[in-house]
Amino acid sequence: IMPGRTGDIRIHDAEGFEGMRKAGRLVSECLDMLVPEVKPGVTTAHLDDLVREFVYDHGAQSATIGYRGYRHASCISLNHVICHGIPGDRPLKDGDIANIDVTVIVDGWHGDHSRMYAAGQPKRKAERLMDVTYEALMAGIAAVKPGNRFGDIGAAISSIAAKNRLSVVEDFCGHGLGQLFHDEPNVVHSARAGTGPELKPGMFFTIEPMLNIGRKDAAILPDGWTAVTRDRQLSAQFEHSVGVTEDGVEVFTTSPKGWHTPHTVAR
Ligand code: MF3
Ligand code: CO
Ligand code: CO
Repeated sequence: IMPGRTGDIRIHDAEGFEGMRKAGRLVSECLDMLVPEVKPGVTTAHLDDLVREFVYDHGAQSATIGYRGYRHASCISLNHVICHGIPGDRPLKDGDIANIDVTVIVDGWHGDHSRMYAAGQPKRKAERLMDVTYEALMAGIAAVKPGNRFGDIGAAISSIAAKNRLSVVEDFCGHGLGQLFHDEPNVVHSARAGTGPELKPGMFFTIEPMLNIGRKDAAILPDGWTAVTRDRQLSAQFEHSVGVTEDGVEVFTTSPKGWHTPHTVAR
C-alpha cells in the first residue's frame, strides 16, 4: 500500500492469533501448491486460476477480488515489475522471475503472503537479487520484538540491501492486518533504527520488502495497478504476515513444506 499517516495500532488477543494462524497457513499452502506449477510456457492467468480454485476449494475468500476494483486472486509481478502485476495471457519464458502475492480471508482473518518463483533457470544476478531480498525480509522479521520500534525493521532491511548494493523501494510498504486487509500502521522498509511506533504484543502486520538491482524509483503503468521500476531493471519481493508475541515474533505464513524460497527448491 502507499505510505501515509500512522495512527493507532490495534492490539489483538489469543483468538486473533488463532485466526491468523489459520489464514496464514492456508495462504502458505496455496503458495506451496504453486511451486511445481511455475514453469516456462504457463500463463500467469492460469496460475491465478489455480490460486482462485485453491482458495474457494478450502472454503476461504480472496481478499483481492473486488478490492478497489481489482479482479484477480493474486498479483503476479514478473522481472522488472515491482508489485501488483495483473495476471494475463503472456506465457512464462525460461529465466523469468515472478513474485506471486496472495491474500486470503479465513473466518474473517487475513493471510497475506508472497514469494519469488523462477520459471526454468534464472540468471545469476536474478538469483542473487531473490536471495538477498529473502535475507532482507528475514532480517526485518528478526527485529520484531516488544520494545523495539517499527523503524528497526526498516533499518535491518535497508542495511542488508545496502551491503549488497541493492535499492529498497519506498513507494509501497507493509501494513497492519487482521480483520482488515490494510490497517495501521504503514510498515516502511527503509528506515532509521529507533524511529517509529513501539512494537507491542498483539500487533499484527506484514513485512514485504521490494529490492531493486537499479534505482529505487517506481512508476505505475496505465492499467492503474502494475508498478514497475523506472529503469526497467529487475525487482524482487517477499512478504510474510507476522504477530508480535510477549518475547518476539510469530510468523503466520511459514511454508508447511519448507518451500519459503521456491527459486531455490529446484537447485
Ligand atoms: N497483497 C498485496 C499486499 O501485500 C495487496 C494487493 S491489492 C491488489 O498488500 F488489489 F492489488 F490485489
Ligand atoms: Co501486504
Ligand atoms: Co501481499
